[in-house]
Amino acid sequence: MTDKLFIFDTTLRDGEQSPGASMTKEEKVRIAKALEKMKVDIIEAGFAIASQGDFEAVQAIARAVKDSTVCSLSRALEKDIDRAAEALKEANSFRIHTFLATSPVHMEMKLRMTPDQVVEQAVKAVKHARNYTDNVEFSPEDAGRSEVDFLCRVVEAVIDAGATTINIPDTVGYNLPEYFGKLIATLRERVPNSDKAVFSVHCHNDLGLAVANSLAAVMNGARQVECTINGLGERAGNASLEEVVMAVRTRSDIFPCATTLDTTQIVHCSRLVSSITGFPVQPNKAIVGANAFAHESGIHQDGVLKHRQTYEIMRAEDVGWHTNRIVLGKLSGRNAFREHLKHLGIEFASEEELNEVFSRFKDLADKKSEIYDEDLQALVSDVLSYEPEHYKLISLKVCSETGERPHAQLTISLDGKEYPADAEGCGPVDATFKAIETVANSQTRLLVYSVNNVTNGTDSQAEVGVRLEKGGRVINGQGADTDIVIASGKAYLNALNKLVAPERKHPQVTP
Ligand code: KIV
Ligand code: ZN
Repeated sequence: MTDKLFIFDTTLRDGEQSPGASMTKEEKVRIAKALEKMKVDIIEAGFAIASQGDFEAVQAIARAVKDSTVCSLSRALEKDIDRAAEALKEANSFRIHTFLATSPVHMEMKLRMTPDQVVEQAVKAVKHARNYTDNVEFSPEDAGRSEVDFLCRVVEAVIDAGATTINIPDTVGYNLPEYFGKLIATLRERVPNSDKAVFSVHCHNDLGLAVANSLAAVMNGARQVECTINGLGERAGNASLEEVVMAVRTRSDIFPCATTLDTTQIVHCSRLVSSITGFPVQPNKAIVGANAFAHESGIHQDGVLKHRQTYEIMRAEDVGWHTNRIVLGKLSGRNAFREHLKHLGIEFASEEELNEVFSRFKDLADKKSEIYDEDLQALVSDVLSYEPEHYKLISLKVCSETGERPHAQLTISLDGKEYPADAEGCGPVDATFKAIETVANSQTRLLVYSVNNVTNGTDSQAEVGVRLEKGGRVINGQGADTDIVIASGKAYLNALNKLVAPERKHPQVTP
């Protein structure tokens, strides 16, 4: 008998805590729908009490997702738990995840609480959450640096209080696989009621060991792994979902458990998260990097051609590579278009939205004869940016010539009024950004500029990411177009539009 390994995705909560990875409500819903399609068991949608924006995002995901359990994080405080329950109440299935730190340094220096007070507050929080649902998860924050005897005491008490999942976080990524695995085995052995809860792990990647620690925990009885797409997350990130899932699947000869994920959705989810957050995926990243299945050496290529398993332990198509299919063309009608996007998890809030995206699709089909799913995703991200469009690109002309300084001439509208501008720069993109700044004067600093081709070939759309910083606030913007410079201008304006929206503060960042 193989146990089920539950996959708990926290891209929308811990992943969003990566500096600069903040997502809008609509972007979060899009990612949540993609995770649901991949059959993720539990989606941590956010931290409902953090702000009105976080609350609304959790609520929107609870409404939109039907098949996965939707979860909200909450500190071990009644007001947090009440807010989480309120945001989640319309979900088909929901979980409340409450946490309180148990390591000496956190209890003394951060919480200023005694161990007895921590046990009491944790129990109270779990009991309170049980008033709303019988699906309650408790995390002893910084468990990886907590004293084992005290951890056993807390875990026993919260299981008695009704916690059904016990999540052991290595909050600061301090653990090593052998020790972390033993910690899980010890807790399962020593806590008398441990059989009444599912043990889970949540590992951070500060030493590059998040996946290894998670897998060691699974070998020692953990049956839920908390992870994120592309390993996004606070500081060095969390355990990467795709690596955990594919390790367990590829080494099914060793792991006594299996996930029920549709792994063919992995590459799609990875791209979606990367394009929305503006965090590029390194080419040599396991599973989802562009080179993950590319064989360069002649000996390897020859081996793979003779027999795939000589150099490949997984099939690229099993994680969603090479699924590039021409899906729509110039002659596709509106209904086929709508249906196809529905199949990709994209639904339109109104007929106007559909019309706008459809008309942009027709423009694209005029330029590019083969339209792939990836093109449609990029197009939708570009058109439905959902930010109030204070700034809009009306027209752009760039002149780039050998021996001459590139020059950009553009018109942007700001709150409906059009402004012409022009500037020179080191290159056409630099000139474009400088021209925009002559109107916007945003006082921002450009942190990251990235370009990604959506499909192969020089007719591909370019998906551009721009990360701006202003007074410590970091914002990502995206834009897509078959013209790289136009895509860049759009991405820059998208970031400026996001900067106008009020900032969301996170209670874990600013208590
Ligand atoms: O890293 C951590 O400890 C967390 C908890 C809130 C689970 O993110
Ligand atoms: Zn975390």
